[in-house]
Amino acid sequence: MTPWQTLQQSLPHQPRTWLVTGAAGFIGSHLLETLLHLKQRVVGLDNFATGSRHNLEQVRGLVGPECWQNFTLIEGDICDFDTCLRATQGVDFVLHQAALGSVPRSLEHPADSHASNVNGCLNVFLAARDRGVKRVVYASSSAVYGDHPDLPKREDNIGHCLSPYAATKLINEIYADVCARCYGLEPVGLRYFNVFGPRQDPNGPYAAVIPKWIAAMLAREPIYINGDGETSRDFCYVANVVQANLLAATVRAPEALNQAYNVALHTRTSLNQLFALLKTQLLPHCPWLEHCQPVHRDFRPGDVRHSEADIAKAGRLLGYVPTHTIEQGLAESLDWYRQNL
Ligand SMILES: NC(=O)c1ccc[n+]([C@@H]2O[C@H](COP(=O)([O-])OP(=O)(O)OC[C@H]3O[C@@H](n4cnc5c(N)ncnc54)[C@H](O)[C@@H]3O)[C@@H](O)[C@H]2O)c1
Repeated sequence: MTPWQTLQQSLPHQPRTWLVTGAAGFIGSHLLETLLHLKQRVVGLDNFATGSRHNLEQVRGLVGPECWQNFTLIEGDICDFDTCLRATQGVDFVLHQAALGSVPRSLEHPADSHASNVNGCLNVFLAARDRGVKRVVYASSSAVYGDHPDLPKREDNIGHCLSPYAATKLINEIYADVCARCYGLEPVGLRYFNVFGPRQDPNGPYAAVIPKWIAAMLAREPIYINGDGETSRDFCYVANVVQANLLAATVRAPEALNQAYNVALHTRTSLNQLFALLKTQLLPHCPWLEHCQPVHRDFRPGDVRHSEADIAKAGRLLGYVPTHTIEQGLAESLDWYRQNL
């Protein structure tokens, strides 16, 4: 059995209380769904800046009324310290996901990204400290690798940040380390690499590529590729991210704490390959895609050219073993988007 299988068997016998910040968002709602399925109590904190009540309603339908009664929602902002104090009361573990994502958003509105991602994150760390919650798992990002040329990315080798968003995530890691050293917190940072899956928002100017393309393909709209399409990413299905969070929250080995880990597949997929994968999987349901070709346009500022993670550290110290390849993740995602869009 993998550590993840063992954990899924043991957790239902040990109900604990988890704070998920950003619970109404894409990743947060998956954490909520899995935790409730595993008979845990969950407090969700969200200001609905980018998350939605619809996500929560979906989780409610998926877990059923018995599990749903273990969920408490606090509608509020992590920029407000008293709200964070309220949310961390009686909590055993914090899974901090709330932030304003997107590199382009941070280039246009750097102060907004800073407020939620830096001030808000520090509030969550300090509220956890004040409430005696040691274990805080928080969402970092592959963006912290910036312009470092190495591939695959290894945790110790980071370059210069290429966007305000990247800077906010790097500052989170610095504060996590400081809070571990000064206040005895047990932070674990997870550097997510291009997460995708059901409930990821396909709408708006800051949508991620996979939901945006799926929505466009289903609606018979043009698919735009920024650049020549050879830009590559380590696309990671959300179930793998959920696994990493729960392993990080429950790991005991002291050497695993106050660390940052890559969470991905260690597989690089170019945008051209991604387009082909989506087209192949959708074609049986959408015959109009047969002659669909992408439209290439300019590269997007702030984007790194290639991204691929070395996941050996998360495997060694957390026991992380991804359960879903990109193809498996896309198949599950496409089922969801076809039913929900
Ligand atoms: N999706 C990815 O590919 C990816 C990659 C790297 C890192 N991350 C990080 O993972 C985390 C979750 O991302 P996601 O993709 O689920 O995004 P999301 O936008 O779907 O979820 C973020 C949630 O946080 C909430 N939120 C934002 N600011 C808040 C505030 N000030 N107070 C309270 N709630 C607030 C939003 O309403 C939303 O529900 C973020 O920290 C993001 O930076 C995501």
